[in-house]
Amino acid sequence: MNDLILNGYVNKPVDKSLDLVAEIEKLKKEKDAIILAHYYQLPEIQDIADFIGDSLALSQQAAKTKAQIIVFAGVHFMAETAKLLSPDKKVLLPDLMAGCSLADSCPADDFFAFKAKYPEHKVVSYINCTNEIKALSDVICTSSNAVQIVNSFPKDQPLIFAPDKNLGDYINKISGRNMVVWPGACHVHKRFSVSRIVQLKKDHPEAKIIAHPECEKDVLILADHIGSTSSLLQFTKTDDSKTYIIATETGILHQMTKANLQKTFIPAPPDDATCACNDCSFMKLISLEKIYNSLKYEAPEIHVDASIREKALAPVQRMLDISAKLGL
Ligand code: 13P
Ligand code: SF4
Repeated sequence: MNDLILNGYVNKPVDKSLDLVAEIEKLKKEKDAIILAHYYQLPEIQDIADFIGDSLALSQQAAKTKAQIIVFAGVHFMAETAKLLSPDKKVLLPDLMAGCSLADSCPADDFFAFKAKYPEHKVVSYINCTNEIKALSDVICTSSNAVQIVNSFPKDQPLIFAPDKNLGDYINKISGRNMVVWPGACHVHKRFSVSRIVQLKKDHPEAKIIAHPECEKDVLILADHIGSTSSLLQFTKTDDSKTYIIATETGILHQMTKANLQKTFIPAPPDDATCACNDCSFMKLISLEKIYNSLKYEAPEIHVDASIREKALAPVQRMLDISAKLGL
């Protein structure tokens, strides 16, 4: 099986005359497989997915699916979480190089030493982290339940929040806590240009700015609404404005546009003046061809080391239990 994979994905040519969408549908039925896709995936991938969602909804879906194979159209930590939650299922990630700069910004050895400095603290970790970090955590959260997860601890319980500094600072601000925050960041969300967003707002004064909490404080200050990808999408469906400036990865614009055909969505620009939008290079490694080959050859498969599985699963399960109790 190993010589099948080159540079992280199945190294087999795909016949250009194939109708990939039809072939993927056929393979899904034959193999009892489902495709779970994150909102940052390419539009054509979102369109063939059985389920599209944010990190919380995707993990809830991975935990309850009856399908035998889960193809994860997303990044490594998402597929790894799916495997934690569904250890008996085959979990496929069409390109193993689809990582996450935020997860990479928190190496386990460094975090272990950091945590040792705060023996009284409990650890809340954002789901965008490795299994090693999950295993060092008391509970996991996503951007849609972070405030509720943090508030599930008594006010006087000291907390560490890892690995996203911007999300940690944002939660400190709205919860009135003083969590110790690991200084990690996502390369996509930290590169929005405040001056270019301000210029866009001048050009479109009627537009509302909506932003993901992984953005820098200076961007969040400008936002009319802050939330997870699903919260941003929901806002565009219920709010009555006609134009929005979207400060998160551009993949989300596909569902926003589909749900609001009369509205205009403008991607907030990064500080690279040659580029109008802000893509996650890891998310965009997944393609229809790679999904097709992944299903056909049932590779690359995600495995979780048995020595870490229980420790990494416990805080994820705790998050799902708290979320279920709160109806999230
Ligand atoms: P959510 O979709 O959970 O808001 O997360 C955004 C993200 O960065 C996923 O990598
Ligand atoms: Fe990671 Fe940022 Fe890409 Fe999300 S957008 S997967 S946080 S690098």
